[in-house]
Amino acid sequence: MNNFTFNIPTDIRFGKGQIECLSQELEKYGKRVLLVYGGGSIKKNGIYDQVMEQLKDFDVWELSGITPNPRVSKVREGSLLCKKHKVDVILAVGGGSTIDATKHIAAAACYEGDPWELVLDKTKVLKALPFAVVLTICATGSEMNCGAVITNEETNEKLELNTPLLYPRLSICDPTYLYTLPKSQTAAGTVDILSHVMEQYFQPNDEAYITDVMSEAVMKTVVTYGPIAMEDSDNYEARSNLMWASTIALNHLLTVGKGGAWSVHPIEHVVSGLYDITHGFGLAILTPAWMEHILNEDTKKRFARFARTVFGVVNEDDMIAAKAGIVAIREFFKELGMPETLSEVGIDDSKLMWMSKEAVRTSGISTRAYVKLDEENVYEILKKSM
Ligand code: NZQ
Ligand code: ZN
Repeated sequence: MNNFTFNIPTDIRFGKGQIECLSQELEKYGKRVLLVYGGGSIKKNGIYDQVMEQLKDFDVWELSGITPNPRVSKVREGSLLCKKHKVDVILAVGGGSTIDATKHIAAAACYEGDPWELVLDKTKVLKALPFAVVLTICATGSEMNCGAVITNEETNEKLELNTPLLYPRLSICDPTYLYTLPKSQTAAGTVDILSHVMEQYFQPNDEAYITDVMSEAVMKTVVTYGPIAMEDSDNYEARSNLMWASTIALNHLLTVGKGGAWSVHPIEHVVSGLYDITHGFGLAILTPAWMEHILNEDTKKRFARFARTVFGVVNEDDMIAAKAGIVAIREFFKELGMPETLSEVGIDDSKLMWMSKEAVRTSGISTRAYVKLDEENVYEILKKSM
């Protein structure tokens, strides 16, 4: 196993009714709150009212309208609000997009220059406002990690800001809040969780046995409960297992002792940065094409192990089992109603080379990934995904 450090300062409050602790926990940081949320789902499903009840003794300013694939322009707006009203603490109520925008706002509120400069150079983040999360969709793991993925709508860049100063202080994860998710978002979240684990599982270092076995448990959980949550939206067992799986999948637990760089996410981020598609849809389209591209005599053993443990493939021959695993994951995504091609989500082949270059430029895919991929390789994966 590689050396590692593991230090997550986020206080997780998981389960029904955990919102009750919000006011008591939040006031540790002050009384002046910026409430950040998305396009209004929390007003329709009643979560907004529950949060406002908790905030009745606080001074609250609101920043709504955070979109999926959150934009830096909203971060600018949020950081100005924090500065103007001397906000003590930010509260994100939503999913990865709202949480990521909040993380960036927390850092930008303590910075004099333009917020995008922090994304381009994270060493400029020297301080951040404290922030808490009420999670309403399980997918990204942003509720317990220190990464934020932000899109610059002027340059079409979608990049990650990642620094230990950006861990949430508190995350309230109530699985009943997921009951109102549209099927497509439950499915996209399921794909995202699975992909996060796969990105960490398929790495050059395969000596971290304990990490691999934990990863397999999380992937089996996702494959078991994703379809159930989709069909039976208020199934608490399914929602709670998925919700905790999403947190574990990307809180660094499943990367310890392994390291390396991710493969599908860097490509997907370029695609969704340019075309504004749902992150999980992009992953569902690209993952099987990536798997087919990198399956060879050297990688077949791990692919076969993945196929046998996660999808129950039974075949002694590693290459045959590996291929059956790719068929199984395609079927799984289909069962979830995911699109299978980029053209299905309205993307043509005019920017494939630009996207390939951008994926290589903005990530470790060509230097540290499980199978290193250059611009030509990424282009082939994108082409195959058309
Ligand atoms: O905006 P509202 O009206 O709230 O609707 C949202 C949004 O349209 C809706 N929704 C959320 N909770 C709901 C609900 N609808 C009904 N009932 C509820 N309880 O769901 C839609 C999607 O929300 P969003 O926050 O965009 O989803 P997700 O959590 O999948 O976040 C995606 C973003 O996170 C980034 C992605 O790239 C994308 O920008 N990621 C962040 C990561 C991180 N910070 O660690 C890692 C990931 O790999 C990912 O890149
Ligand atoms: Zn993801």
